[in-house]
Amino acid sequence: DMADAEELKRAAAAKALEYVTDGMRLGLGTGSTAKHFVALLAERVAAGLKVTGVPTSEQTKAQALSLGVPLATLDELPELDLCIDGADEIGPELALIKGGGGALLREKIVASAAREMIVIADETKTVATLGRFPLPIEVVTFGVEAIKLRLKGAIATAGCDGELKLRHKADGKPFITDQGNVIVDAHLGRIPDPRALARALEEVAGVVEHGLFLGLARRAVLAGANGISVITP
Ligand code: A5P
Repeated sequence: DMADAEELKRAAAAKALEYVTDGMRLGLGTGSTAKHFVALLAERVAAGLKVTGVPTSEQTKAQALSLGVPLATLDELPELDLCIDGADEIGPELALIKGGGGALLREKIVASAAREMIVIADETKTVATLGRFPLPIEVVTFGVEAIKLRLKGAIATAGCDGELKLRHKADGKPFITDQGNVIVDAHLGRIPDPRALARALEEVAGVVEHGLFLGLARRAVLAGANGISVITP
């Protein structure tokens, strides 16, 4: 149930703290699992740990500020030691789908700026083939319908198919990202070749970023009923 899921997320976050050492420049992820990590990190900071965080969203920035975690912008700290973030799906070779919370663009930029990325999750996020979770694609607000048509074609060239839906908020208005763009969720079911799909999406004009994180995560800290496992690609 929900309480157990939160326990597992917190356990993964706690384990990831073991990789944090004094003086580190840390990318701080977004989402419910990363939120546990930031809360636990704040406890360590209160106890004297010296780190500087670079948040991947306005949401994480607000949380970290409220808990007294020292922050910097990525412009101030363009090279990071470690980035800790959640994921929506974790596939073979630690290929990830991210962006369920809509923060994929800043998340990918921050993860790319870090020497190492550790993904934290409950083990139900692991899959044999990516794609059951809808793939978030961040696009500019200009010509969204035309962009969706091009995306359809691009997705087909990568052997995928499925519905593309503009993401909306509960109030019915389009979801707007921290960077002022919108998100198209691609309901693909399965992604047989994530690299081919990533390449195809990157060729579509108007695509800012997509939620396939390939070759970025160096470790996954997974919490399950039987304990914690740390896996590498
Ligand atoms: C935010 O945009 C996402 O990439 C999150 O990292 C992802 O949705 C995981 O969130 P949870 O930890 O809440 O499942």
